Formats: sequence, C-alpha cells, structure tokens
Amino acid sequence: MRRNLVVGNWKMHGNIKSNQLLLESLTDGLRDLKNSDYVVCVPNPYLFQARSLLEATNIAWGGQNVNQFEEGAFTGAVSPHMLTDLGCTYVLLGHSERRVLFHETNLSAAARFDAAIKADLTPILCVGETLAEHDAGLTEVIVASQMDAVMATLGDEDFARAMHLNMVFAYEPVWAVGTGKTATPEQAQEIHQFIRQRIARRNAGAASKVRIIYGGSVKASNAKELFAMPDVDGGLVGGASLNAKEFEAICRVANSLSSNPCLTEEDHIVS
Ligand code: PGA
Repeated sequence: MRRNLVVGNWKMHGNIKSNQLLLESLTDGLRDLKNSDYVVCVPNPYLFQARSLLEATNIAWGGQNVNQFEEGAFTGAVSPHMLTDLGCTYVLLGHSERRVLFHETNLSAAARFDAAIKADLTPILCVGETLAEHDAGLTEVIVASQMDAVMATLGDEDFARAMHLNMVFAYEPVWAVGTGKTATPEQAQEIHQFIRQRIARRNAGAASKVRIIYGGSVKASNAKELFAMPDVDGGLVGGASLNAKEFEAICRVANSLSSNPCLTEEDHIVS
C-alpha cells in the first residue's frame, strides 16, 4: 500500500523573510498530519535555512535539481553530496522547466538520477508531454521515452537501490504546469496507470509500491478529485506551494485520502 506524498516546488521564489514565515506556518499547520509525506523543494541558497527550520518536523526538504558529478570544475553546479550534506532527502529531476528552458535531455536526467541514488537521495523523476505532443496523441510515447531513458540505465542493483529509496515519478503535463489548466482526474489516472504498467514490465512488485504523483496547477480546490484516483499518490505543487494555507489544505486532502497510514520501510524494499 502507498502513502500519499505532497511535494512543494518553490522554483525560483522566496527570500529569507518570506521563507521563514512560510515554513513556520507549514510546520504548525502540518504537525498533526501523520498519514502522508510532505516535502518542500527550495532554491539551493535556502536549503540551510530549510534545514534549520524543518529539522525536527514532519516536513522533509529537497533540491530542485542536481548535477551528476561529485565535485570538480563545474561552475554553478551542485553535487548530490552537497544536497545530502544539507539534510536533503529528495531531489526533483527532469522537471519540464529544466528540459524546456535549460535544454536538459533524457540522457542528462538519467545521469543525474544515477548520481542521486548513489548519494542516497530519493529521486522524483518528472515526465510529461507538451501541448503539441498532447494534441498529436503522443502522450504515452513521450512519457515512455522519458521513463525508459532513465530505467534503461539502471542495472538490477541500481533499480533495487532506487526502490529502497522509494523513487517517485511525477506526471506533469507541460501544458498544465503554471498555466492554471489541470488534467482531468480521468486523464491523470490514465497516464499514471500507464506509468505503473511500464514499471511493472521491469518489476511487478515495484510497480505496486512506486508513488506516482500528479503535477500541473494542483490547488486545494482540485486536489481531492485528483488524489482520489487509484494511481494518483499525491501531488507536485508549484504556485500553490508558496501559499501556506493553500499548501496546507492540499496536504490535508492527501492526508485524509492516504490509503494506508502504517507503511513500514519493509513495504518499500523490493528484491
Ligand atoms: P504548478 O507547477 O503547480 O505551478 O503548475 C507545478 C510544477 O512545476 O511542479
């Protein structure tokens, strides 16, 4: 059984003062929500602040991207170990803004994924089609190619490691990210099911355990119908994660719908 997961993606927003207000409010608001997992992915300069404010709470923090190299002459890059040094447990990979605006490829997502799991970071691999691809009926082809590029590079040991770390997939139709348009619950379910079936081709046990979260204009007002779908295990939330009350409301929905509050670490381990 799967616990719901809600991940806030702050993107390039915030400052020391506003972050503090937001995180203090979330700490307070989410304290009693025990049935789901909650994460904020903050800009790198504020990871230290996130760590000091979230350390003893039920909210985890993570990076929005990571480089595949461990260290060296890579100006502007941040390594997986730097994220873990700052207490991160999660990292977003292959977000559509990285793909579209910064020309990151499936290949680079695969390299970053590999580096992340080797550093014990839980990868959240974002996949999703553009509007043109959607309109051309290519959604499954695109999502499969984005998944396969990463899955194909994982040997059995790495796959088991990724499962042990509870790797996450995020289905984010690019046409729904930051646009106010949301996939219908049925559209989301169809692709989430497709993603799960694709994982099942590799390992059926893993497929039933992997969390697949939906992203793209998730709000308090649409979270319930989306998260209620059988293969939607929570959300990746951009804009709405910057508003404490809105994000808390989304987390409350996930918490109330979590199918099994008693997930143990053992449930995740797949040989
Ligand atoms: P949005 O962003 O919720 O603002 O659409 C989602 C994301 O980019 O992860």
